[in-house]
Amino acid sequence: MSEHQIKVTTRDGHELSFGCSDDCDVVSAAEQVEIKLPSLCRDGGCGACVGHCDSGQYVLGQFNNTVLSNEAVAKGEVLLCRTYPKQDLHISAPYDYAHIRFGKQNMRQATIIHLEKIAERTVRLKLQLIEDEAGLAVEFEPGQCMELEIPGTDIRRAYSLANTGNWHGELEFLIRLQPEGKFSDYLNQQAQPGQILNVYGPNGAFGLQADSFSPAIFIAGGTGLAPFLSILRRMAEWGEDRAIHLLFGVNQENELFCTEELEKLQQQLPSLTVTLCVWKPAEAWSNGFRGTPADALQQSLSDKPDGYDLYLCGPPLMISAARQVAISQGIDEQKIYSEKFG
Ligand code: FES
Repeated sequence: MSEHQIKVTTRDGHELSFGCSDDCDVVSAAEQVEIKLPSLCRDGGCGACVGHCDSGQYVLGQFNNTVLSNEAVAKGEVLLCRTYPKQDLHISAPYDYAHIRFGKQNMRQATIIHLEKIAERTVRLKLQLIEDEAGLAVEFEPGQCMELEIPGTDIRRAYSLANTGNWHGELEFLIRLQPEGKFSDYLNQQAQPGQILNVYGPNGAFGLQADSFSPAIFIAGGTGLAPFLSILRRMAEWGEDRAIHLLFGVNQENELFCTEELEKLQQQLPSLTVTLCVWKPAEAWSNGFRGTPADALQQSLSDKPDGYDLYLCGPPLMISAARQVAISQGIDEQKIYSEKFG
């Protein structure tokens, strides 16, 4: 077993390095020295840990091809949770230094204060942090997520935060109930206000590119709306009025949620346009676009393709469909940012 040196350069030019043996993946090796690189599933399924290998030999473990295409692999893109070095590696990371956490995994405890079904198969979960030596404040970048642990087990699931950082320790999540999902079963059968959970994070590098002032299109599939709500709420708090078009897609209209919050945000952010997309609506439904967000994107880009940043969050199929439309309509691939979940 050989030890190799991994050098990571972040988008804003910071460098960090650590050792990694050839039987260990890069994300786990970093974690052993208390460097938490952005990652979610740790299993090659979400794309949160993507990077570009500029030099050195490596082997990639199995991963989902919808997350990283063969063309991307041929260009040197890697999923760091599936990258096993065979030599010293130099990796360029597509996120800033601020998205990397240092020190022990940050575990805190929080009480359930609100649990509500807000649409077919979707719940809103609010937690209140219990005060500890870190105080009550909760700091995170809009777009990041936290891992929630089912009480009495070591089973954790990562969910995007829908609110913004705050001094009073409130965390808000929008969670899709998955058939036979372990955390979904917990929410359905055991969770109730007053219960205490362990929470880990924040983590993840999805979020608005701070160095771009281009107009943006946000595409949210189902609970993929959560990180966009966080970003828009932060923009409203800070009075940032950049042109944003949000396309929020679901399969049927009874799966829509947070429409009142979106209306309120439109009042606070005059440059925000919201299009609700329902793939298979009832005949009488007339509150938005009838079709998928990818179809709506095609329509909205056909007369103004240039200069957009595109942000995608939702199921892998929706993301690849929207991505294909965007590229075929001339959006620069480098300006497409995405986070997938199953
Ligand atoms: S954390 Fe590597 S693909 Fe999900």
